[in-house]
Amino acid sequence: MQTAAWMWSLMFMAVIAAVFLWVVAGASTKVTDKADPAPAYRWRNRLFWAVIAAGMVLTFGTLWDWPIAGHAAAAPKPDVVIRAVGQQWRWQLDRDTVKVGELVEFEVTASDVNHGFAIYHGKNRIVAQAQAMPGYVNKLRVRFTEPGDYEILCLEYCGLAHHGMRSVIKVRAGS
Ligand code: CUA
Repeated sequence: MQTAAWMWSLMFMAVIAAVFLWVVAGASTKVTDKADPAPAYRWRNRLFWAVIAAGMVLTFGTLWDWPIAGHAAAAPKPDVVIRAVGQQWRWQLDRDTVKVGELVEFEVTASDVNHGFAIYHGKNRIVAQAQAMPGYVNKLRVRFTEPGDYEILCLEYCGLAHHGMRSVIKVRAGS
């Protein structure tokens, strides 16, 4: 196997070397001033536009199934909207209790530096997460299926007490 690969590599290198030698040999022949470069340029321009056109056709021909387009319009209205602001070093939630089955939308943002908003169920299972960035709101939709206390931790190192940046969202059985 290795010998075969080596032989193929050698052959390939020989071909490359031959091409180089051919180019070098060609470079020493003088181009006469009478040579007209216009046709070559014309073909180059045509090729350029052909590639652009093919790219456009391919792009628009294949993008119709883009999953994000129409997503927002089709999405149902959330039952609960919770604003979640990260700041060194705590999470500020304007509400911390929801019901099982409710469609909860977290509006995740930050007031100082980047944080990572992550909802955990149990010790090591992430239910959902979004980046918390100053000046930008990331909408994170979650439908909790089990009651319990879900811990919110920070997933982005944000300074000395990053590890202590936690909060809890309480999910209660629906009525
Ligand atoms: Cu906030 Cu790490």
